[in-house]
Amino acid sequence: MKIAIVGAAGRMGKKLIELAAGTGLDVVSKVDVAEGYDATWGEGVEGVIDFSFHAAVPASVAKAAEEGIPYLIGTTGLTPEEQKAVDEAAKKIPVVQSGNYSLGVNLLLELVRKAASVLGPSYDIEIAEMHHRHKKDAPSGTALMLAKSAASGRGVDFAGKAVYGRCGETGERPEGEIAVHALRGGSVVGDHTVIFAGDLERVELVHKAQDRAAFAAGALKALAWAKGRPAGIYTMRDVLGFS
Ligand SMILES: NC(=O)c1ccc[n+]([C@@H]2O[C@H](COP(=O)([O-])OP(=O)(O)OC[C@H]3O[C@@H](n4cnc5c(N)ncnc54)[C@H](O)[C@@H]3O)[C@@H](O)[C@H]2O)c1
Repeated sequence: MKIAIVGAAGRMGKKLIELAAGTGLDVVSKVDVAEGYDATWGEGVEGVIDFSFHAAVPASVAKAAEEGIPYLIGTTGLTPEEQKAVDEAAKKIPVVQSGNYSLGVNLLLELVRKAASVLGPSYDIEIAEMHHRHKKDAPSGTALMLAKSAASGRGVDFAGKAVYGRCGETGERPEGEIAVHALRGGSVVGDHTVIFAGDLERVELVHKAQDRAAFAAGALKALAWAKGRPAGIYTMRDVLGFS
């Protein structure tokens, strides 16, 4: 399968190019705004992997929709308007979109849903994520996915319960809040901790990515999986057969 990588000069782009060799996916176009890269992909591309910048996604996914080729989105931090463009494209092509392509995090999402459902609202949910100092959006797409999993385990809507950081006279913590905190520093690839804090005990579920290859390998597998699927939005849960 001939593929293009959008954001090819970036940290994830480079890892994808390195790992694609030997997977049956042939990187024929390296797209990036950086010097020496393709401005866009040409003819003959059969699928696209995008780990770039949120503002780049709408035009790129629309081009894939015109061409009728599958598109995988790893890029996070899309605005609601940018997400609409993705949803529009997904009416014509298979789009795989996930804030995290690692097997471990996708397992963690299931564990968090289960824990939230078993422990109930008397256990306060706090999610902490830490990433390298270069990350441009916060909180991480993965932290949001974890928060939504926890909310779904509790049978509530995350938007109505969400708190992002705390500062000043916050008052006591109301029952049911789901709080997300973003830490930045150094070269941390991606750490996520979901804390369920009860009166008598605390459960912590932790994932630490040690190498970007954990995301890149999952993304390459997911694009190959998407080839030939009907139009629609798919997640790693679909790819891994969890749903
Ligand atoms: N879903 C996941 O599993 C996962 C894992 C890691 C990172 N990410 C996300 O992937 C994205 C990239 O992460 P990174 O660490 O590789 O970032 P990075 O900054 O190292 O790389 C991004 C690349 O995109 C390029 N770019 C910017 N605008 C562009 C445009 N208009 N067209 C083409 N290329 C453009 C930049 O020049 C850069 O080379 C981020 O949104 C990050 O949050 C997702």
